[in-house]
Amino acid sequence: MPTILAAGGLGFIGSHTCAVLLEKGLNVLVIDSLENSVEDVFYQIKKILNFAKSSKKGNFSFRKGDVRNKEFLRKIFKEYKLSGNQIEIVIHFAGLKSVGESVLNPLSYWDVNINTTISLLTIMDEFKCNNLIFSSSATVYQLEILMNKKVTEESKLSPINPYGNTKFTIEKILSDVSQSESNKWRIANLRYFNPVGAHESGLIGENPKDKPNNLLPMLLKVINKEKKELSIFGSDWPTKDGTCVRDFVHVMDLAEAHVATLKFLLNNEPQIINLNIGTGEGTSVLELIDSFKNTNKCDLPYVFEGRRPGDVPYSVADNTKALKLLDWKPSRSIEDICKDTWRWNKANIKINEKLI
Ligand code: NAD
Ligand code: UFG
Repeated sequence: MPTILAAGGLGFIGSHTCAVLLEKGLNVLVIDSLENSVEDVFYQIKKILNFAKSSKKGNFSFRKGDVRNKEFLRKIFKEYKLSGNQIEIVIHFAGLKSVGESVLNPLSYWDVNINTTISLLTIMDEFKCNNLIFSSSATVYQLEILMNKKVTEESKLSPINPYGNTKFTIEKILSDVSQSESNKWRIANLRYFNPVGAHESGLIGENPKDKPNNLLPMLLKVINKEKKELSIFGSDWPTKDGTCVRDFVHVMDLAEAHVATLKFLLNNEPQIINLNIGTGEGTSVLELIDSFKNTNKCDLPYVFEGRRPGDVPYSVADNTKALKLLDWKPSRSIEDICKDTWRWNKANIKINEKLI
């Protein structure tokens, strides 16, 4: 039985994707350094799998290690080949992802994001594994393009921070690799917009080890009384209510997009393809906060502060290409995002209390 390697698979997006792949009966091996995740996530995914109704569940294993380490990768690829469970597909989630941190510490972003990719590609090629899904980002687009209307995959690329530069460069590396030998590589760059939400079981969700700075983790800090009020960055943007508009995509819809991409790649000729993964719907920061309060019947104090450097008023995907080519359609609403985030937060507080 072939194996799918999920590099960085215990993180936020990887863990949800693993749960979906395993429920579909696919075998998954995670390699993760635990730089921004914990081993407990592996056991939580196993729990999800035990509860799942699906009759054909895949095998799930985990190796702790750094994806930059070629020797370590080579050993694992070899072991899986000899056991007849050769690694045939790689989903590359591994990397560092904080825009702000990347400005302060660009070298570690270049080191981790680029070298994980180069090591993976090198060892994949050695073992004739040429199918790859890469976690790219909407940050690769030019700022001005993002500001006005929905972006298509053909919109101009020009990131403005080190994190975005690494994603842009990796896309270039992948393009060069795929062109070096046509008819060999099947590669998809999934440009995620704003992934949020959690698994509906409440067993896994977003649990950053570092200081959170994205909207939902900050909002949860206020809910958990670790912060008095949520700071909203900017009330005077040229948008429907003055706050920024984003394409918030439920992480389970995103996870399902990986399965659909896998099917697409394997059923088509070798190629490299870029796909925007978002809902195509824009929600303002204030709308999201209102929805969170109404759905969960909670209080959520906030204050308006100045604009955050590097923010754009409007970032929404034109997802026509993904909808057309993939057997995929995002189905979860903003209310689902709020409900699932709430459930995960309640369960996660309990987990953290137990650990203390
Ligand atoms: P995450 O930090 O939760 O997950 C990344 C995982 O990679 C973590 O488990 C971490 O421990 C692991 N990792 C980091 N360096 C590693 C290394 N050298 N070797 C092995 N494992 C390593 O992040 P996420 O939100 O799940 O994002 C996954 C991918 O999607 C990242 O590449 C990120 O840049 C990209 N992305 C995320 C977002 C977002 O908003 N979450 C948006 C666009 C793109
Ligand atoms: N925001 C606040 N207060 C906060 C945190 C965020 O008002 O405490 C606002 C931001 O100003 C922005 C919106 O909420 O207007 C969303 O901000 P996030 O930090 O959650 O997300 P970004 O849109 O800035 O960036 C995210 C990921 C990137 C990814 C990008 C793709 O962090 O990795 O989406 O569009 F590349």
